[in-house]
Amino acid sequence: MGSVILGTGSCLPKRVRTNDDLARIVDTSDEWIRTRTGIQTRRIGEAGDETYRLAAKAAEKALSMAGVAAEELDLIVVGTITSHMLMPSTACFVQKEIGATKAFAFDLNAACSGFLYGLDLADQYVRADASRKILVIGAETLSTRTNWEDRNTCVLFGDGAGAVVLGSGSQGRGLVGSNLRSDGRLWSLLHMHAPVSNNADLEQADNPGVHIIMEGREVFKYAVKAMETAISDLLAREGVTLDEIDLFIPHQANIRILNKLVERVGIPLEKVFINVWKYGNTSAASIPIALDEANREGRLQPGTKLLVCSFGGGFTWGATLINW
Ligand code: UT7
Repeated sequence: MGSVILGTGSCLPKRVRTNDDLARIVDTSDEWIRTRTGIQTRRIGEAGDETYRLAAKAAEKALSMAGVAAEELDLIVVGTITSHMLMPSTACFVQKEIGATKAFAFDLNAACSGFLYGLDLADQYVRADASRKILVIGAETLSTRTNWEDRNTCVLFGDGAGAVVLGSGSQGRGLVGSNLRSDGRLWSLLHMHAPVSNNADLEQADNPGVHIIMEGREVFKYAVKAMETAISDLLAREGVTLDEIDLFIPHQANIRILNKLVERVGIPLEKVFINVWKYGNTSAASIPIALDEANREGRLQPGTKLLVCSFGGGFTWGATLINW
């Protein structure tokens, strides 16, 4: 039997950075950012908003909603590309913060698709043993890895975390299935170098330092096509029609990508959850934050047929179908 989401939680830094704030740092404008991206504000972490702390706060809210104690958790998976340290994992820091003494914990790097990949993995664990309780988190402080001199990228990203608690489902409810994909051949279109190597022989060519580098136009085109195909293949495989979908939560990257995707897939806009204007692109955190907001707004009720999709660096992408 598949897993159900027992609780959701999210945590955003308090500090808001507006488009006008960014126009004071780089050559841009509120008008350009709004029309090209749909983003109006994003959250930027301060001291105390480290990736693992945002993740732990989101996790505590999800556990509280689920009525699950941290000590009951068997596994913690954190999707992130902005881990607090290279070692240990953010998941181990979260384990320490929330006191999940029984759980094993690890991070998963699939960029913006990290949460969906983690959800699918956790679902397999629950299918194998229905007694398991698993925390899946997407958490990022992309502000730490943004090139604040590059107007092409610095206007797009934000910080935040979202979490869900998974447990075993009852008949008819839970994760139906996922269609996850990657294409490493396209890595260079959206990437982030490692820190400079201590072994000069293994240094990456022309390492510019650790920040996001992106060919925006190419990513845009590929993202729309890839998510559209992932969705149609998943729906066909599961024998579900678009009319049956009650709510669609796409990765919150950019309003133009969302609009194009929605138009190509053919879902009415009123069934689409959008919060990119508030938070920008929070990578792996974008879907679980949106899930939590949709849940707390009452848009996810038992029986709601939910479609989720993501796209990110790697490339990685996919779609997931959930009977809430
Ligand atoms: O999870 C996936 C993550 N990635 C994404 O979601 C990004 C996908 N790509 C996009 O959303 C869009 O490609 C962007 C929003 C990044 C850029 O929009 P665009 O319409 O593709 O613009 P562009 O890159 O083709 O640039 C057009 C112009 C350029 O100026 P010139 O060469 O025409 O003079 C840029 O230098 O806009 C300029 N530009 C800016 N101008 C003002 C680029 N960034 C900015 C900016 N403010 N922030």
